Amino acid sequence: MELIIQSDAQAVSVIAARYISHLLREKPNAVLGFVAGQTPIPLYKELVRKFREGHIDFSRVTAFSLDEFVGLSPDHPASYRSFMFKHLFEHINIPQKNIHIPDGMATDIPEHCRQYEDAIQKAGGIDLQILGIGVEGHIGFNEPTSSLSSPMRTKTLTPRTRRDFAPQFGGEERVPRYVVTLGLGNVLAARKCMLLAFGKRKANAIARTVEGPVTSMMPASVLQMHPVVKVFLDAPAASLLQNTSYYDWVFEGKPEWQKY
Ligand code: GLP
Repeated sequence: MELIIQSDAQAVSVIAARYISHLLREKPNAVLGFVAGQTPIPLYKELVRKFREGHIDFSRVTAFSLDEFVGLSPDHPASYRSFMFKHLFEHINIPQKNIHIPDGMATDIPEHCRQYEDAIQKAGGIDLQILGIGVEGHIGFNEPTSSLSSPMRTKTLTPRTRRDFAPQFGGEERVPRYVVTLGLGNVLAARKCMLLAFGKRKANAIARTVEGPVTSMMPASVLQMHPVVKVFLDAPAASLLQNTSYYDWVFEGKPEWQKY
C-alpha cells in the first residue's frame, strides 16, 4: 500500500486525478471502476476540469460502477446511477455504450450479477478500481463479515449504514434495506485500486484498514492483500495512523519516474 496524505481533500484529489490521467495516457482504453458517495466528488470535479481543458480523454474508456440500491428506480435522485451521471458521466466524453451500472431493479439479481461480472471479463478486467470507505470499513456495499473473496451479489445494509443514508432518502425507514455490490473478490481482481477517505469520521476505519489485521470485520483491510493500492487521504482521515511520518517520507522521496 502506498499512502498519499495531503492537508485537505482538494489537494489530494488533484493528485488522484493526475494518477488517473497518467493511467489513461498509458492506456487510453482503460477499464475504470467508479464509486459513488461524497468522497469522490472533488476527484470527479477535477477529472471534469481536466477534460474541459483538453488534458484527459475518456472516449475509449469503459466504466463499471461499483454498487447500487435494490428496488430503487434508476432515476431516483439518490440512486448511484443518478449520482454517477450528475457528477461525472454527463460532463465527459465517455460513450454511453461503455457505461455499466448495476441495475437495482433487475428481476433476477443473481443472473444480473453474473452478466455484470461477464461484462467486466469481456472488457478485459478492471484496470483501476476507485473506492471510498464507510465508517465501519465497508468498500462498495461489502458490510462487515463479507467474505474476503466475495463475488458480486446482494447484501443487506447494516442499521448504521442506513442511518448514514437517511438524509438522502428523507428518513432512515425510506433507505433501501438491500443493495447490489461488486464483491471483495472483484475488488481484489482489479489490476490497481485507489482508496479515498476524507475527514475525521473515517480516521478509525482508515487506521484499521491500513495498520490493523486483515479481517472481514473491517472489509477494506482486504486491500492489504492487493498488490497495487494507493490510499489518498486528507490529514483528518490520516490522523489515527501510527506511521504517517514514514508514509510522508516515502511520498516525498519518490524517484522521478514514479511521481504523479
Ligand atoms: C457507501 C458506498 C461506498 C462509499 C461509502 C462512503 O456505502 N456504497 O461505495 O464509498 O458509502 O461514502 P461517502 O463517500 O459518502 O462517505
